[in-house]
Amino acid sequence: MIAVTCTAPVNIAVIKYWGKRDEKLILPINSSLSGTLNQNDMKTTTTVVASPDFDRDRIWLNGREEDIQSERIQRVLDEIRKRAGDRKEASKEKLSTYKVHIVTVNNFPTAAGLASSASGYCCLVYTLAQVFQVSGDISTIARVGSGSACRSIYGGWVAWDMGNEIDGSDSRARQVADEHHWKEMRVLVLVVNDKKKETSSTAGMQNSVETSKLIQERVKIVPGRMAQMEKSIADRDYETFGQLTMRDSDDFHAVCADTQPPIFYMNETSKRVVDIVKRYNRTCGKTSAAYTFDAGPNPVIYLLEEHVSPLLSILTHFFPSDEKNYVRNVPDVENVLKRELPK
Ligand code: ADP
Ligand code: DP6
Ligand code: CO
Repeated sequence: MIAVTCTAPVNIAVIKYWGKRDEKLILPINSSLSGTLNQNDMKTTTTVVASPDFDRDRIWLNGREEDIQSERIQRVLDEIRKRAGDRKEASKEKLSTYKVHIVTVNNFPTAAGLASSASGYCCLVYTLAQVFQVSGDISTIARVGSGSACRSIYGGWVAWDMGNEIDGSDSRARQVADEHHWKEMRVLVLVVNDKKKETSSTAGMQNSVETSKLIQERVKIVPGRMAQMEKSIADRDYETFGQLTMRDSDDFHAVCADTQPPIFYMNETSKRVVDIVKRYNRTCGKTSAAYTFDAGPNPVIYLLEEHVSPLLSILTHFFPSDEKNYVRNVPDVENVLKRELPK
């Protein structure tokens, strides 16, 4: 029997992935870029036990058994077993026949627009890769679980290059800068609503691709924006970074509103936070905080350390009862993925 436990953090995109050109292989219509958060905060912890004595694969998510036959989990397991190596306990041939029991827990709301599919599938793939001794790039395996998951494989600032190949072999994550590069950067995650969202990211982006005209304009804009974003991170140019981050979030939510039927992930509280950030920046006379929203109402704010206290006190003033919900994350981890050795 082999048992491995790993943790993986979420990542929050500053250039959003929205739309697939291939649903099965999860190939995107645009490249994207994110910061991987400190895994002391929002993370998934996954244990995989593999044994020749188990009669079938099983998975429990947050204490409840889930359907192991789900297409995405099956694809991940297939890819991992195809690439299984040797271990001292078993040869390559034998190891790939071991069945697994998977126990996975998120320490933050699942399916609420806080990137649980990113940390969830990243952690699943990373842990399975340890068990089955898979080497080389595993971001392409994480990608077939959930697109955004491929970016959590690396720490710091990570691009997901959309790639051109039909088999998806070049649609993978690439670290743009490591977790020590921009030491003053902080991330505030404001939990407005921790309930499961009505429209999953998968369903939402599929509808956008089918019905939105605006999404076609967005895909033309993203390549230039990716280049500018990479440069702003390389130069630690917060002004450009912040403006691009807010603009891309706004554009993504405009695409959602342009979808039929329209999707509204942001709510009134989200809009109030946008307003507060805009006013804070006007007061500072420069861009000092940048909001971004994933497929949900919860604001994520990228800002430099010196602005955390002032902005938090303003937010606390406007949302006094929500104070306990502020999670502070710092994308400066040493090891993005912590691995415990097999017991
Ligand atoms: P989110 O905004 O949280 O990423 P998504 O709609 O993209 O929401 O994905 C949520 C889905 O991701 C869940 O319904 C579940 O199928 C999957 N998921 C979340 N966490 C895990 C995990 N720890 N392990 C495996 N799958 C997970
Ligand atoms: C708005 O990666 O959750 O968070 O690939 O269908 O699992 P699937 O979708 P998912 O979509 C994430 C969308 C987003 C933007 C982003 O993280 O880039
Ligand atoms: Co997701």
